[in-house]
Amino acid sequence: MSIDHDSHVQTDPDDISSNNSGNRPFHEVLAARAARRDVVRGGTVLAAAAFLGMAGAVGAADPAVAGGGHGPGHGHGPGHGHGPGHGHGPGHGHGPGKPGKPRKPLLGFTPVPASTADAIIVPPGYTAEVLIPWGTPLRRKGPAWRPDASNTAAEQAQQVGSHHDGMSFFPLGRGPLGSRRGLLVLNHEYIDRTLHYTDGDAAMTKEKVDKALAGHGVTVVEVELHGRTWRNVDSKFNRRVTGTTPVAFSGPVSAKHPALRADNPAMGTLNNCSSGHTPWGTYVTCEENWNGYFGTEDPSWTPTPEQARYGVNASGFGYRWHLADPRFDVARNPNELNRFGWMVEIDPMNPRSTPVKRTALGRFKHEGATFWESKGRVVVYSGDDQDGDYLYKFVGDGPWRRHRALGRSPLDHGTLYVARFDDDGKGTWLPLTYGKGPLTKANGWQDQADVLLRTRQAADAVGATPLDRPEWVAVNPRNNDVYLTLTNGSGWPGEVNPRTPNPYGHIVRWRERGCDNTATSFEWDIFVLAGDPAYDPQVELDETNIFGSPDGIWFDGDGRLWIQTDISNSTQNRPDRGHDNLGNNAMLAADPNTGEIRRFLVGPRGAEITGVSATPDQKTMFINVQHPGESTTFWGNPTPENPRAVSNWPDFDPAGRPRSATVVIRKVDGGVIGT
Ligand code: FEO
Ligand code: CA
Ligand code: CA
Ligand code: CA
Repeated sequence: MSIDHDSHVQTDPDDISSNNSGNRPFHEVLAARAARRDVVRGGTVLAAAAFLGMAGAVGAADPAVAGGGHGPGHGHGPGHGHGPGHGHGPGHGHGPGKPGKPRKPLLGFTPVPASTADAIIVPPGYTAEVLIPWGTPLRRKGPAWRPDASNTAAEQAQQVGSHHDGMSFFPLGRGPLGSRRGLLVLNHEYIDRTLHYTDGDAAMTKEKVDKALAGHGVTVVEVELHGRTWRNVDSKFNRRVTGTTPVAFSGPVSAKHPALRADNPAMGTLNNCSSGHTPWGTYVTCEENWNGYFGTEDPSWTPTPEQARYGVNASGFGYRWHLADPRFDVARNPNELNRFGWMVEIDPMNPRSTPVKRTALGRFKHEGATFWESKGRVVVYSGDDQDGDYLYKFVGDGPWRRHRALGRSPLDHGTLYVARFDDDGKGTWLPLTYGKGPLTKANGWQDQADVLLRTRQAADAVGATPLDRPEWVAVNPRNNDVYLTLTNGSGWPGEVNPRTPNPYGHIVRWRERGCDNTATSFEWDIFVLAGDPAYDPQVELDETNIFGSPDGIWFDGDGRLWIQTDISNSTQNRPDRGHDNLGNNAMLAADPNTGEIRRFLVGPRGAEITGVSATPDQKTMFINVQHPGESTTFWGNPTPENPRAVSNWPDFDPAGRPRSATVVIRKVDGGVIGT
């Protein structure tokens, strides 16, 4: 999130830590390895050898895992009516390379230069087309987009939401058909208070709150390849989930839990950042900076320790919804807070299904949900994106297919862990289980529901490692190695945060013991330190690949690692912040075996690049451009009179405004993206 939360650009709210736990487990424990200045790019021979030497070569033992790209290959479990038959079975991609046999290079495209143009730039031989920008009607007869932002709340609820983020493509049909038609399911993280309304950030009204709520959430839209162009079509599947859609709760914190009783029915999902999809064919959306929507004018209100740990305060991020809608007044309706911070499962194949908040996965500022499968069990990785917060992993307690066969959700039964990264390159997953370690009645914990409602404090108690803003996680389909973006931060103690401060971020990777993603220990290393060697000589990048603030990260089915950047608009393009050579936010591709990285795409002004998915044949890639034209220190501030002050992408309508949108990337020769 690069949020304009005060009509002028400020520091990201995620940059402000609310972790006062004092978890600094390594300074005293181990003399920090003199120089983990062997900070490696994956290819650096020595370090790579050390890292890769810790476990044998991994075969794709699990055919679902071999599917890659889309994580655990989209099966469809029992009772799942219209399973799309995601064609990612065994044999997809190239599988693990045979030892000794040279593989075709993963990266074949010409890197694009850094750019500050108000445009999408892709390599020669590639095309980039805009699909479903904010405000696109979900149905042909639906309300048309109004470029002056005069669409009403009711109209916005029938249109694609704002601020596109995490996204998955669910094929409709088997084989080649599934690469020509499918459901695009995508998150809408937030709204721009200047650009969302005709009068910008002027006085808050109930209608404006409602239009904001309708701009958040998730879009499900059917898309098809028509000739050489993808387009959205009228479909029974097309649907919006918004900040007011009825929701259910499952897992240890049930809908009947006293902490969830509020003045209004349980509804809505907010600040849907990244997402994932389950092996059984559903979509899981994450609630990230939900705290920012709440506030109060009550001078006597002060946050509880739990609320403070989640960053709840009287003014929120300045949205002021509480002035027009008591639902968001923390003094009047405090339990509404407890309904947010969860992962939410949506079945895109059933447009009438109720989204379900899966509480066993914990309550924090979920950046994403990266699903994997090991030994038949579901594994979900999720970062808590705030400076000094943690990385989590949920492991199902038995084969997910068995849970499904018994009519249970595999996400309701399992263990939530939080990561500790030791300075010696080892790490441990610490269980957040009531009764274990410090999480006992004697220490004030009531039950597992209490542990989950206060996940951050439980993680503090067990000694998790604070990180420089953990964002997305990706698993290498070739060997199950796990990669995590740490976007930037103040440089927390511990070698896993190797730069203090850390304005450019880095990517950490680890191998779970035995290459089994359900394991409780791992060995880690640093894959790449982002930045610009002109400002930080430690950085081993050049003009073809310098980047800052890695955020989105994703493996395609061949094992290419895609990296998307989100340099904050308070920093982007600024020489005084060492960001003038990096250009606009970008997407890069990496070969995890050699460490080679090439810049693949650069986005328009004020935007971040986020969200990525591909068709099973990998010949179409979908990415999102979020918040083009947002207020930036470098380019200036949009106003209701001139919403185009920073960007006018993608319409370049002289009377219009910038819009978040999906971008469809294809190769002119019809080849695989990245080659
Ligand atoms: Fe929603 Fe941490 O980005
Ligand atoms: Ca973001
Ligand atoms: Ca970010
Ligand atoms: Ca993000």
